[in-house]
Amino acid sequence: MYVNFRNMLKEAYSSHQAIGSFNWYNFETLAGIADAAEKLQSPVIVSFGAKYLSNMSLETAVALTKAVAKEHSVPICLHLDHCSDKLTVLKAIDLGFGSVMYDGSKLSFDENVMNTKDICDIAHDSNVTVEAELGSLAASESSHEGSADDKEIYTSAEDAAKFIRYTGVDALAVSIGTVHGMYKGTPNIRTDILAGINEAAGIPLVLHGGSGTPEDKLIECINCGISKINVNTEISEYVISRTREYLETEHPHYSVLSLKQREWTQEVVEKYIRLFENN
Ligand code: 13P
Repeated sequence: MYVNFRNMLKEAYSSHQAIGSFNWYNFETLAGIADAAEKLQSPVIVSFGAKYLSNMSLETAVALTKAVAKEHSVPICLHLDHCSDKLTVLKAIDLGFGSVMYDGSKLSFDENVMNTKDICDIAHDSNVTVEAELGSLAASESSHEGSADDKEIYTSAEDAAKFIRYTGVDALAVSIGTVHGMYKGTPNIRTDILAGINEAAGIPLVLHGGSGTPEDKLIECINCGISKINVNTEISEYVISRTREYLETEHPHYSVLSLKQREWTQEVVEKYIRLFENN
């Protein structure tokens, strides 16, 4: 079932649960995420990053998601992930994405406020929710989204409260020590900072950099107001490693490999949905 994000997010926030937001890049990853959600009877966000516009246009992403969602009974919301280009965000809203992330985190606070507010005014008229980001995540080598010079800047609770008041944004992505990609050493996830942001913000918070984050830390984050958790790198790494192993001994037709990759995506996504729900 193809749905808008608003109700999902409110429910997750009030019941102290997190919805999984999983990145996809092709039919296999999209369908595998939807299959995992269907098996566990859980709502899910299928997150299409602006980074992957060379894999697929926004129009195709919407058409494909609507078609896959029709074959699944659980609520499936199409989200635009990390987009710093306002025109692309507006186009996604117009095409029927259920949620968009305008990423102005590299801009000054004032510019980020101004652009996010413009987007919110338009998105809310179409009942589309908007996520924004304050602070900045570092990225490890395995990340496909960030870059090596991305600096870790923790989100300030005071700025978060102001930002939310000025923009009317629906969800805020925060930086508390998670990284895009797999961690090099032991992660230092600052749930103390998160608790402060949660108190000041009063809206659902989003955790980027889910891959490789210790399970107990993810649960602590959910208990401190995180309502949406993004996972990308681990899906890619798992499917690639299973593919490599499989091709060492098998010489399948490509259509068979495609089915396998859908199943492997399902496996890794199921692990995360179970974790987020068992909290
Ligand atoms: P990971 O690649 O670390 O899972 O991060 C995903 C993400 O934050 C997508 O926006």
